[in-house]
Amino acid sequence: MVDTSDEWIMSRVGIKERRILKEDGLGTSFMASIAVQRLLKATHTDPSEVQMLVCHTVTPDMVFTATSNIICDKCGIKNAWGFDTNAGCSGFLFTFETIRRFIETGQYRKIIIVCGERMSSIVNYEDRTTCPLFGDAAVALMIEPSEDPSLGFQDSILHVDGIGRRYLYQTAGGSLYPASHDNVDKRMHFIHQEGQGVFKYAVVNMADVSEEMMKRHNLTADDIAYLVPHQANLRIIDATARRMGLPKEKVLINIERFGNTAGTSIPLAIWDFKSRFKKGDNLILSAFGAGFTWGSIFYRWAY
Ligand code: UT7
Repeated sequence: MVDTSDEWIMSRVGIKERRILKEDGLGTSFMASIAVQRLLKATHTDPSEVQMLVCHTVTPDMVFTATSNIICDKCGIKNAWGFDTNAGCSGFLFTFETIRRFIETGQYRKIIIVCGERMSSIVNYEDRTTCPLFGDAAVALMIEPSEDPSLGFQDSILHVDGIGRRYLYQTAGGSLYPASHDNVDKRMHFIHQEGQGVFKYAVVNMADVSEEMMKRHNLTADDIAYLVPHQANLRIIDATARRMGLPKEKVLINIERFGNTAGTSIPLAIWDFKSRFKKGDNLILSAFGAGFTWGSIFYRWAY
């Protein structure tokens, strides 16, 4: 479709395959509902037990109703409330930090975070600077209180800087540029990324925040079981791992098979590699994304 090559994509980014939801008439909630249904089954949870469901997405089914509502409806979750969050590729980190606060109140014992993106719905397949990068995915996680406070969520460091809106955005379809023939003609309803600009911020900030988390908790590379990074570019991941002093085998990478799935990429890596985790393993989850948003979570595997 565009003038590109496997060699360019592999050497600059590191992607071989992506998953694309091709069928018309299916949005993010289609994939997200399947993920939630599988989660309910795997955790032997009746839908009535779920108290809250939060959906992170930059590709909601519609501007409103919230996609979280649609997912609850499709999954028969009737006793919960919830909402959508939108923090670009750092979305899982921002949502997890929010949800752990609800858990800490003691009033919530079962909250679902579901991250879903139909990135293919906002990609311009005539734009070679973005179309090889993004893939579709959905992952659901059950968040519950830990009986042992030394396990589970330990700490977070999160940041935003609105300068990012000049580098990575989808302008049309919101209140600033409501849908119009003119906007569509100008391709404003598609994702636009100034790759090099984003790269420069990403490569420094993701490494900085990960190192800051290590210093704050006196963690050495030996103390860390795995880095679970946002999967936008292998070179950004490598730079973060280098700064942290981590060997290759401690860095979880699946960008080759899924591409950049935005805020879904960290839970997707957790799902993909969770058979490797042992109770008590220290994980550092780090991301950088549109906004700009970036951050790091220190999580001790609790299962
Ligand atoms: O997940 C949210 C946050 N996003 C990120 O963190 C992404 C950060 N940015 C990146 O990962 C990289 O900037 C990209 C992968 C998007 C692009 O890689 P790059 O090394 O920064 O490439 P570039 O934009 O500087 O382009 C280099 C050259 C240009 O050609 P000239 O001007 O040197 O002749 C582009 O036109 O590569 C060309 N190019 C391509 N060539 C073949 C751009 N896209 C392609 C392509 N195939 N698909």
